[in-house]
Amino acid sequence: MRTVPLLLVVLLVGCPKQTASTTESAASQGSQVSVGEGQSEMHDRLEQLTGARDALVAGDADGARAVMRTLSEETSPGLAPEGWQAPLQDLVEAAVTGSEANTSEEVGAAIAEAGRACGSCHRAAGLGPYFLDVPVPAEDDVMGRHVWAADRMWESLVGANDGAWVRARDVLGPVDERATHLYDDVPLAVRAEAAQYRSRLHGLAEAGVTGGDSERASIYGGVLETCVGCHSLLGGGPHAEPEGDAP
Ligand code: HEC
Ligand code: HEC
Repeated sequence: MRTVPLLLVVLLVGCPKQTASTTESAASQGSQVSVGEGQSEMHDRLEQLTGARDALVAGDADGARAVMRTLSEETSPGLAPEGWQAPLQDLVEAAVTGSEANTSEEVGAAIAEAGRACGSCHRAAGLGPYFLDVPVPAEDDVMGRHVWAADRMWESLVGANDGAWVRARDVLGPVDERATHLYDDVPLAVRAEAAQYRSRLHGLAEAGVTGGDSERASIYGGVLETCVGCHSLLGGGPHAEPEGDAP
């Protein structure tokens, strides 16, 4: 039983040429495939896809597209056993869609859909990533709590972990009046718009609790939209340009 997932992990990675020979040897000597190898490749995948997400949230949609392009080129479902082809095919499709998407919104939706594809295989396999518990940031660290919650939603999608989404909702669900400090100094009209992003985020966190995986993927796409939208509105966010330096 143990060799099946390991074989898969090997199939999932590697360029097409290498995959052919890896498949042969893995099929005949499955038990010799090293666990460490497969796991580190999976970790690379997680780093890639999470990197695409972080680039997008930081306003770098081009960077996110480039990662999705690489992911699409490095994933080859062709040789995987039949039962595993659907999630891999979904993953490739999402990666291609993301790499070709015109708007940040579409890139975010594709990243979320790719995360769901990863999660669908993990759910089917009953195996997958195990995420360490990260303590919730202090109440006055508003953006830290947003980021924490968005990370739990992401883990919930990729790791097919329902509990992680509930933990995210518990932190993001209640409207937090302290969040207004994020946009204290901006003109009134901008404040109103920022407040809308914020309340939308709370609503999405709530909605995902009862949603299935596909619904959660589309909700998570919406979550990324609120991050990107508010950062571009306020000129805030990770790696933000110093004030007055915006293009
Ligand atoms: C075709 C099925 C399949 C797909 C698609 C898939 N995985 Fe996995 N993944 C597995 C299996 C099976 C394991 C368990 C392997 C093990 O523990 O050795 C696993 C384990 C992992 C692990 C944990 C590795 C460790 O150190 O234990 C991570 C991280 C991971 N996957 C990330 C991803 C990401 C990110 C994606 C999407 C880009 C993805 N996986 C897509 C089947 C899949
Ligand atoms: C209501 C507007 C708003 C929303 C919604 C929002 N942000 Fe932010 N974000 C900001 C502002 C303003 C800053 C810069 C000021 C600060 O860090 O407090 C910022 C800063 C950040 C930073 C860098 C600061 C740090 O603490 O490391 C990260 C990372 C970040 N946001 C991630 C996210 C993510 C992920 C989401 C979506 C889940 C999100 N943000 C949603 C307004 C927002």
